[in-house]
Amino acid sequence: MMGPLILNTLTAISSSLTKKGNCMSTFVEKGWFTLPQHVVSRLSVVIGEGGSGKTETVLRAAHLAAKIYGFQVILIDAKGDDDLAPRFVAAMHTAGKKHIKLFPTSSYDGWVGDERTLYNRLMAVQVYTEPYYEGIAQMLLDLALKVPGGPPRSSTELLRNLKPDQLRILYRGLPEQDELASLKNEDAHGVYNRYRAFFKSLEGKLDGGPASFTFDETDAAYVKLDTVAFANECSSIGRYLMEDIAHYMTCRKPKDQKVLIIVDEVSALAIANIANLSERLRSFGGAMMLTSQSEEGLAKTLDERNRILKTSHMLILHTCNTPEKLVARAGKYKKVQTGWSVRDREGTGYGTVHLSDEYLVPPDEARRLDVGECFVIVKGSGYKVRVAPLQIDKASVENAEAFIEQEAMYSTVTQPLTPRKVEETRTPLSIVNQYQDINHPQQSGQGEPDTL
Ligand SMILES: Nc1ncnc2c1ncn2[C@@H]1O[C@H](COP(=O)(O)OP(=O)(O)OP(=O)(O)O)[C@@H](O)[C@H]1O
Ligand SMILES: [Mg+2]
Repeated sequence: MMGPLILNTLTAISSSLTKKGNCMSTFVEKGWFTLPQHVVSRLSVVIGEGGSGKTETVLRAAHLAAKIYGFQVILIDAKGDDDLAPRFVAAMHTAGKKHIKLFPTSSYDGWVGDERTLYNRLMAVQVYTEPYYEGIAQMLLDLALKVPGGPPRSSTELLRNLKPDQLRILYRGLPEQDELASLKNEDAHGVYNRYRAFFKSLEGKLDGGPASFTFDETDAAYVKLDTVAFANECSSIGRYLMEDIAHYMTCRKPKDQKVLIIVDEVSALAIANIANLSERLRSFGGAMMLTSQSEEGLAKTLDERNRILKTSHMLILHTCNTPEKLVARAGKYKKVQTGWSVRDREGTGYGTVHLSDEYLVPPDEARRLDVGECFVIVKGSGYKVRVAPLQIDKASVENAEAFIEQEAMYSTVTQPLTPRKVEETRTPLSIVNQYQDINHPQQSGQGEPDTL
């Protein structure tokens, strides 16, 4: 059930269409279209051509989820929008988030977890087309991570362990030395070179260190996959961090902490099984929102695209050229078609009546949507809405920019800062607080709906 006031996320602009939906009352509060928590808590997909308003829409949803529903928000900006970071930080500040971190402004400690966790993370980084080399990588990583004395805790340690000579020393006298005897040096070097290239391009940004962070310590995090700084490694970094998010969600975070993971421009990540991942994370309080410029951008294979669309609970469709398959999700309705019979330019007095099946969301209307307008399609109903952009004033953006500069400065500090304990740094987003927000809207600072 929704609380009495949910953030004024979207406003309905087409009453004729909304009437055809069968559960409009769940979404509309005082004439404003809102996203209820049970909808935000599941997988959503936002599709629309470049510049149609997807990022603004997810920023709006992020603000809603953070402020009203108490979600921790992790935004992965896979497109590397220039001005998104300060807007996100400002949005999270106004949503009351205190512990906001940005990557790669600050380094991330990507080495939390046991051998199995690190193995998954490292395997996600590389894509192998040949099973033989994949098998070699699996074996080598397994050995490099399970060395006596504990797994590596930095890329330097890992790269050292990936050298066959080093492994032979570490496993001397142990059963694994037989496996190492059959390992060809050139195969091992192939694996080493791949991970070396990946970690070198990152310049230690995933290795922790002073002023680094993990998702555990934040209540909002922004991850920019910077195509300039990291060039070809962007999608690998995204997959590495996504694996860490999965570990954080399933093993590290408090049970009642809800997390909204937004991937803005999901095509850049090329995650093979994101639909499964989203399903897995949902049972741990994880919601996902994926944006893409087209249906094809959601995933490489048709199978996976279909899986994502089938699994997603909500589709937000901004303007796009080929919306037919997408609008079909909203279903059809019966329309009465009438006609008059004419002969020799004169009416015969006979007429026709028949029923036709029409799309609830007409494809041509989806093509003609303006920037910021979209169709929200949930459970076989479609709503045409215009997103109210977040009103972030100039001063708040300037504050956010100053905050980001300060974070960048800290990250270059060589003296370790006093480590913050997770218990101390996490804002207690308990269920009680969340209900307080909902039941006492005046505490949330939300006044009149934002003007468009
Ligand atoms: N709801 C809205 N109302 C008014 N203007 C909007 C709205 N949403 C977006 N805009 C404007 O349109 C421009 C593009 O928006 P946005 O970056 O969200 O599009 P996008 O779909 O994410 O584009 P891309 O695919 O290139 O990332 C922005 O400059 C923004 O000011
Ligand atoms: Mg965008």
